[in-house]
Amino acid sequence: MTQRLAGKSAVVTGAASGIGRATAQAFAAEGARVLCADIDGNGAEETARLIGPTARAFRVDVTQPDEVCAMVEACVAAFVKIDVLFANAGIGEAGTAAELTLERWNRMLAINLTSVWLCAKYALPHMVRQGGGSLIHQSSTAGLVGVGGIAHYAAAKAGVIGLTRQIAVDYGPQGVRCNAICPSTIPTPLVTKVWQERSAPQAGGPSTAEQIAAAALRHPMRRLGRVDDAANLAVFLASDESTWITGQALALDGGFTIA
Ligand SMILES: NC(=O)c1ccc[n+]([C@@H]2O[C@H](COP(=O)([O-])OP(=O)(O)OC[C@H]3O[C@@H](n4cnc5c(N)ncnc54)[C@H](O)[C@@H]3O)[C@@H](O)[C@H]2O)c1
Repeated sequence: MTQRLAGKSAVVTGAASGIGRATAQAFAAEGARVLCADIDGNGAEETARLIGPTARAFRVDVTQPDEVCAMVEACVAAFVKIDVLFANAGIGEAGTAAELTLERWNRMLAINLTSVWLCAKYALPHMVRQGGGSLIHQSSTAGLVGVGGIAHYAAAKAGVIGLTRQIAVDYGPQGVRCNAICPSTIPTPLVTKVWQERSAPQAGGPSTAEQIAAAALRHPMRRLGRVDDAANLAVFLASDESTWITGQALALDGGFTIA
């Protein structure tokens, strides 16, 4: 590795699993100190243990303002500053607009959209005072194009892109950049759950194996994503190599959205 994040302090939410764990590890491998945050405290501890002494674990429910505030303060207390916040924690769930209940809708928006705003709300004052920072928001190709069967998820992810642009405009003059990552399908526990819901007998959909094969074929690169694909893009957006990139929703999708 090349120490592209040497001297930087970062928070990664959803760091107990999938993209978040891979990104926390990539940030650390590039020289950052990393606060690994997740509602799964044991999983966050495990990620921090895998990284070593430059990481700390923090248990957080990203829907709770007090807990998100405490997470940001814990980063500053441990590492003196917060240069990067990857608001990545999220859930996946199948459901069309007519099927959804208000409870499921509100839960999805709380975890996948409101949480991203809360992370920004508490990190921004520190970043402005420090003279800059990089907010990285986890969106999805479902926030860019119609995918089908995930109405509340897609609405939340599209909302993340709108929030990203607003923050980029409002805080660019203070040196804070804000970008969204929009991955297509990367097999993680979140995706496996949605595949299983869609193929459940009552849903009457294709089997999980059929969905995996069909999903790969929809990508010009003829493969699904890997957690390292997302981690590599997050490292770039966290680094000083991307200092003139802000307000963007970057498709990470093997060509899915242009095909
Ligand atoms: N995997 C994909 O194909 C894909 C595609 C597009 C976007 N995404 C997004 O990437 C992000 C990470 O997903 P993943 O695929 O790595 O899934 P994952 O299930 O492996 O990881 C998600 C993590 O978020 C944590 N989390 C959930 N609710 C939380 C809460 N309230 N507070 C704190 N942590 C919480 C979970 O405990 C888990 O560790 C999500 O926002 C997801 O929507 C994933």
